[in-house]
Amino acid sequence: MKHTIIRNDEIRSGVFRMEFDFADIPMPGQFVMINCGGNTLLKRPLSICDFEKDKMTVVYEVRGKGTYNLSKMKISDEIDVTGPHGHGFDIFDKFNNILVVGGGIGIPPLLYLSKKLKSKNINIVLGFRSDAFLIDEFSKYGNVLVTTEDGSYGMKGYVTDAMKEIINEVDIIYGCGPKPMLNAIKDISEKYKIPCQISVEERMGCGIGACMTCACKTVAEDGYHYKKVCKDGPVFWAKEVVF
Ligand SMILES: Cc1cc2nc3c(=O)[nH]c(=O)nc-3n(C[C@H](O)[C@H](O)[C@H](O)COP(=O)(O)OP(=O)(O)OC[C@H]3O[C@@H](n4cnc5c(N)ncnc54)[C@H](O)[C@@H]3O)c2cc1C
Ligand code: FES
Repeated sequence: MKHTIIRNDEIRSGVFRMEFDFADIPMPGQFVMINCGGNTLLKRPLSICDFEKDKMTVVYEVRGKGTYNLSKMKISDEIDVTGPHGHGFDIFDKFNNILVVGGGIGIPPLLYLSKKLKSKNINIVLGFRSDAFLIDEFSKYGNVLVTTEDGSYGMKGYVTDAMKEIINEVDIIYGCGPKPMLNAIKDISEKYKIPCQISVEERMGCGIGACMTCACKTVAEDGYHYKKVCKDGPVFWAKEVVF
């Protein structure tokens, strides 16, 4: 379906925030598939960063041809978007002390999640190599701690360093970011016996469960299974995922 771009701004070097009209209400953690134009045949998956009354926001980093084409699109241009796709984060009434942990370009879906969790006690830890983004937006929904690897903003170090300061108060952890970070969060959740959901990334072909491009190794009672990140995920219980 065609959707009209309302905004497409560079919010940090190489990172863009795009808004377009969109009617279907998504769940936090779901994603959309966007036709980026030019000769990019396959649609590209992007997480839903925000949704408000017929308006969707995605935040993306320019990585290759698709996201480069996207960055050149202007207000009033039309894009072909499908979704919302996938299984997002589960929200539980029984958990009140929430820890949200994001790294780099993995943080966008956690903004919409934090918004949906707004009545809870939320600590949000965001980690970046250097330049941070979306901090003010996250601050509306919880107590935000920022870490940077070079110490240019917030605490110097990794998200896992900041997590140690609050982990004893936590009922559930939600995470999204690079694989080594997710693996470290998984280890912490197991050590402290805290339930943990993570959003996993794999390259995608179809986005709807038809091609197996996005297979991810998961633990099963009889050994291992491959699940589809696009359909069974992208959000899984951390204990399921084999890194
Ligand atoms: C469920 C899901 C949600 C995502 N959400 C976001 C988001 O909110 N914001 C965002 O910036 N990116 C997100 N991504 C990653 C995004 O899809 C890729 O960066 C994008 O497809 C790259 O397309 P391209 O044509 O620009 O680059 P390509 O030319 O296809 O690839 C260029 C580089 O990007 C890397 N890349 C390609 N696909 C992926 C991928 N799926 N995951 C990680 N690296 C990839 C390649 O390894 C290569 O180094 C998400 C991916 C998934 C699977
Ligand atoms: S992308 Fe085709 S099955 Fe997941």
